[in-house]
Amino acid sequence: MSAHTNGIKRQSAPKPQAQIIAIANQKGGVGKTTTAINLAAALAGKGKKVLLLDLDPQANSTLSYLVMNEVDLSAYDFLTDLTLPVQRVIQPSPVPGLDLLPARISLAKFESRLVGEFDAPFRLKDRLDSLSETYDFIVVDTPPTLGLITVNALVASTYVIIPIQSSYFALEGTDDLLETVEKIKARPNPNLQILGVLVTLHDRRTTLSRDIHQQITRVFGERVFDTVITKSVRLEESPAYRESIFTYAPGSTGANEYSTLCEEVLRRV
Ligand SMILES: Nc1ncnc2c1ncn2[C@@H]1O[C@H](COP(=O)(O)OP(=O)(O)OP(=O)(O)O)[C@@H](O)[C@H]1O
Ligand SMILES: [Mg+2]
Repeated sequence: MSAHTNGIKRQSAPKPQAQIIAIANQKGGVGKTTTAINLAAALAGKGKKVLLLDLDPQANSTLSYLVMNEVDLSAYDFLTDLTLPVQRVIQPSPVPGLDLLPARISLAKFESRLVGEFDAPFRLKDRLDSLSETYDFIVVDTPPTLGLITVNALVASTYVIIPIQSSYFALEGTDDLLETVEKIKARPNPNLQILGVLVTLHDRRTTLSRDIHQQITRVFGERVFDTVITKSVRLEESPAYRESIFTYAPGSTGANEYSTLCEEVLRRV
């Protein structure tokens, strides 16, 4: 039967939309990529259909699951050639249920390429529209800057997770990030929410680490995830074997912590 009976268009139930989670902090080396690759794998392990979108020209998320000669088209092509079918850019990853939209160093040209384009901050949002019914979650790894790439990620996302390294200068720079989030919420993306602040690279043995955790909690309150990611060699090693922590070291502290984080994420979305 036609959807147009008696000239009345039948309304079908709205399709669920992907939850888009950006992992962002303009500080380098705080665990953004480690969180993106393992949270994406954990969500896939829970039966969710997940896309890991690498928006960092360093391509660390991509290289955690693929070797570069397997990558042809990448995020740069996806964002600059608007006629390119998205299916040509997305690849399966070795993790069941997890697809990857890879990055290459070419993404470093994105900002200069888009200078003067009126839709520059909206490129990713517009491109992801066509994928929002395909995936339950899109996890976006971002570079250590607050430039146009990170702005694109925040404009397109429903949530942001802020990893903060448990170190003496932990909170330095977070004001700038929060200000950027507030500006993006005020205008282009009122739906953006901070899903949580994640303490990473924690060392339970030191008093300094404990003090820093308390300090982060004083600043961010309930937004701090209960899960803390401790320093673990296994988490550092797994990308070299192109595996998630769940297959590389199942039952390890890192695997348990990212699995607990995933449960917290699912409770908060
Ligand atoms: N919990 C952890 N235990 C041990 N090593 C870790 C842990 N988390 C991250 N690392 C290591 O620390 C380094 C930085 O982590 P990662 O690449 O995830 O940070 P990043 O914020 O993505 O960095 P960048 O800003 O350069 O993109 C990497 O070598 C990574 O393997
Ligand atoms: Mg990274």
